[in-house]
This record gives sequence, structure tokens and C-alpha cells, in this order.
Amino acid sequence: MKPIALLISPEAKSAYFKDYLDVAKQELKTVFGDIDVAYKCIGSLDFFHISCAEDDLQRLTRLSFVQGLFSVENEKYIPLDLSGDFPLHADFVFGSKYRGKTNERLTQLLINIGLSSIDATDSSKVKLLDPMCGRATTLLWAMRYGIKAKGIEQDAQALAEIRQSLKKWTKLHRQKHQLKEGFTGKANKKDLGKFLEFNAEGSSMKVIVGDAINANDILKGERFDLIVSDLPYGIQHFTTSNTRNPLAVLKECLPQWKASLKPGGAIVLAFNSYIPKRAELISAFAEQGLAAQDFSIPHRMSESIVRDVVVFKLP
Ligand SMILES: C[S@@+](CC[C@H](N)C(=O)[O-])C[C@H]1O[C@@H](n2cnc3c(N)ncnc32)[C@H](O)[C@@H]1O
Repeated sequence: MKPIALLISPEAKSAYFKDYLDVAKQELKTVFGDIDVAYKCIGSLDFFHISCAEDDLQRLTRLSFVQGLFSVENEKYIPLDLSGDFPLHADFVFGSKYRGKTNERLTQLLINIGLSSIDATDSSKVKLLDPMCGRATTLLWAMRYGIKAKGIEQDAQALAEIRQSLKKWTKLHRQKHQLKEGFTGKANKKDLGKFLEFNAEGSSMKVIVGDAINANDILKGERFDLIVSDLPYGIQHFTTSNTRNPLAVLKECLPQWKASLKPGGAIVLAFNSYIPKRAELISAFAEQGLAAQDFSIPHRMSESIVRDVVVFKLP
């Protein structure tokens, strides 16, 4: 075991604000087990100190809050030449900014927590669904991990914006890829079933226009290891029923989401814990036989949003 210092990224601070240390510690302990973690601040740099096996170093670099790793010898910090080693360029996830985008670091945390809840050893065998995928932040992050991802989005305009941004980053980074577009059923004026599929670096993502309530029908019964989503907060995003409380829509979605999950699969959701309350969410899932796991990272985003993450498993 080696003494290692993990430098906490300023991106994590802006993702989780004043609660970033608690959130980071939860992610670390969930992904790596209940290890001893000591916090140290040097000047304006924040570190977590842990003991870690050589084989785990690479995995540490994929935690959402880690900017870099240092080995610590006699109080000296020696930077390690390690990075997340993602084949697809970071610009595919971070490059395009738009209103309503889920924070990229939070999205990475959701995927990390999801992978650790299903004990995935080979992410290229994992299939992920984001049934309310917006402009595909989750799906593109999943692709960087080698995970095959699909998403559903009610707003047909999202497809054009995703296409535009993919064209930009594939051109700029000379990324070999395939982009396919079409309809899963008959073409129609509302663009329901319209899809865009992006293949690169041996992975793929597909976004289909539709209502998350019909997820399993839209995906023709396909099953996924992970369902990961940032639920509409009701402030920037209105659900299809135009209600500010996503719980009503979620209850309608649950039977089809459950049908889309493989046995042993997990659902990881980010939500504003003011609406719905965590307990309400847990009880709605319990009615469908989905058990909440012991993971919670409440962190304040603004006066009206305390974001939290909840994980459910299908026994
Ligand atoms: C918080 S945003 C997700 C943002 C996304 N993670 C991103 O970074 O682009 C929630 C998304 O859910 C979509 N949505 C809301 N209700 C939906 C429904 N019933 N079916 C499909 N999408 C829905 C909204 O249009 C919005 O794009």
C-alpha cells in the first residue's frame, strides 16, 4: 500500500459547492469501500490522503472530484503521471454549454456510483439508459467509459443540438465516427421515434425522441444494467404533464423503467430534494419493489435547490 494524496478539482467545488468535501468523501468510500480518509488543506489546495494499492491508482483518477494524484514521501508530494485515460476527448462532454445542462462532474459521479452498485468489472459490457437525457451529457460520459448508452428525450429540438455539437467536436478532434439518423417507427410531424446514433472508439450512444413514460416500449423491451438520470427540477424543466413536481411523472414512468432494468441492475437519480422529498421518492420506488441503497449526498445548489442522489436496486 502506498500513501497517496488526491488533489480535489476546482470543478468539483463548483459542482457540489460548500458540501464538496462530504460529497467527494461519499463517492470515494462508495467506490473504494470504507477506507480511512484524511483531509489536508495546503494553501488553497485541498487533498484527501489515503493508502492505496498500486493497482487502484488508475481507478482513482476516474473519481469525479479528482484532479490529480500525488505519492507522498517524507511530506513531499510527487505528482503521478496518471489520468482518467478516456479514449473519447473531454470536449464531447464538457465542450458544449447550454441552459439546463447537468453539471459534468455530477454526471460522472452518477456513473461511478452506478458502476460500483452493480459491481461492474468491464464497463464495455455495461448498457446504460438515461430516460430523460436532455442533450446527452450522461450518454456521452458513458461512451467515454466504453459503456453503450441510450437515451430518451421529449424535446425533439435536442437532437439537432446534439448533432451540431457532435459535428463540431468530431471535426475539431478529427475523431473517427459514424453518425446515423432516422425513425424507430414511421416518420411523423411530432418527430416521436426520431433518433440520432453516434459511434466512436468502440462505443455508441443513441438518443430517441419520446416520452420516458413509454421507455420500455420505445426501446422494444431492451434491458439495461443501469438507468442514470438527472430528473427535471421543475424550475428550468417542465415535464410532459407540465407539473412542477416530477414525482407524478416518475410514478407513471416506473413500471416501464423497471421493465427496462436487468435483474441486479441499478437506478441512479439526481433530484432536487425539496420536490420531491427523498422519502416520497423512496416510497414510490418501494411500491414497485425497488429498494433504496444507503447512498445520499445532499448539497445545496441555490436557495430553491438542494440536490441529492438516490440509488435503487432491483433485487
Ligand atoms: C435535468 S434535464 C436533463 C439534462 C441532461 N442530463 C443534460 O445534461 O443535457 C431533464 C430533461 O428531462 C426531459 N424530460 C422531462 N420530462 C420528460 C419525459 N416525460 N420524457 C422524456 N424527457 C423528459 C426534459 O426535457 C429535460 O431535457
